[in-house]
Amino acid sequence: MVRESISPNELEGRAAVITGGAKGIGLAAAKRLAGLGMKICLADNDGDALEKAGEEVSPLVSGENGLRLETVDVSKFEEVERLRDVAYDAFGEVALLMNNAGVGGPRMKPWDGPDVWSRILDVNFWGIAHGVQAFTEAMLAQNSPSAIVNVGSKEGITTPPGNVAYSVSKAGVKVLTEQLAYELRQIEGCKISAHLLVPGWTFTSINSSAPIEEANKPDGAWTADQVAGFMLDGLESGDFYIICQDNSVSRETDEKRIEWAAGDLVENRPALSRWHPEHEDSFARFMED
Ligand SMILES: NC(=O)c1ccc[n+]([C@@H]2O[C@H](COP(=O)([O-])OP(=O)(O)OC[C@H]3O[C@@H](n4cnc5c(N)ncnc54)[C@H](O)[C@@H]3O)[C@@H](O)[C@H]2O)c1
Repeated sequence: MVRESISPNELEGRAAVITGGAKGIGLAAAKRLAGLGMKICLADNDGDALEKAGEEVSPLVSGENGLRLETVDVSKFEEVERLRDVAYDAFGEVALLMNNAGVGGPRMKPWDGPDVWSRILDVNFWGIAHGVQAFTEAMLAQNSPSAIVNVGSKEGITTPPGNVAYSVSKAGVKVLTEQLAYELRQIEGCKISAHLLVPGWTFTSINSSAPIEEANKPDGAWTADQVAGFMLDGLESGDFYIICQDNSVSRETDEKRIEWAAGDLVENRPALSRWHPEHEDSFARFMED
């Protein structure tokens, strides 16, 4: 039988590797997972933030040597391979890989030059692809219940205009993770499940102009801890698409926006018709129905 879920009981006492784990959603997930009795390997390219995160997570991890901090740039495959080797040397196996590291993108035009494109794609797409490429075979070989969570975005699903490189990177993560889930379920007796975590608007440094410690959470945003809790529920339920809402966008609104975006192809509407003046009224009516 193909495995599509993983429960807290199956995670307890085992190891999680979290990229981008020094802040935000990755750090919140590390705290939740440590609270479940997991050993944690936190990876991030911000060494100072990683040290601080280590101080927060360390008291939550039970037992000695239950926490590893690794300075890793996920855009470099050899560094992600080193991360895998460190994690397997320290813990012998990986029950949960969370490919989470990401950077925000500026408002830009599709024809803007290659530098901004590669800065975003190298981390947001390649960073996650590197995690999949470096870890999957080792996790298959360990043959124990385990999960790979890749962090996408609604911007990679409904692709709102303006943040094109970010949207492309997250659309790539969605496709990569769907294909990963498909390929894993072709393997007889495979014990790894794959999941796409899609945070809603979450109060983290990626979308705060002020340092997060000095800023106030906007009412409409979720906390990173809410996202981490929702992820754990989704993993236990066996959800492939773990789509978080937030305090300003409900599940129903997300579903309708996703349906409308798919409808552009089916109905032969103009690209991104949700933002097209001639479709404004019909989109509004669709959302009200
Ligand atoms: N916050 C939101 O509203 C939101 C919404 C949708 C998706 N996401 C996604 O959630 C994930 C986590 O973001 P967050 O909101 O917690 O932001 P965050 O800035 O708090 O955390 C991102 C972490 O990734 C690290 N990082 C950046 N580049 C790296 C690299 N090259 N190698 C290793 N680590 C690197 C950062 O240092 C940081 O610690 C990202 O993939 C982001 O795109 C966030």
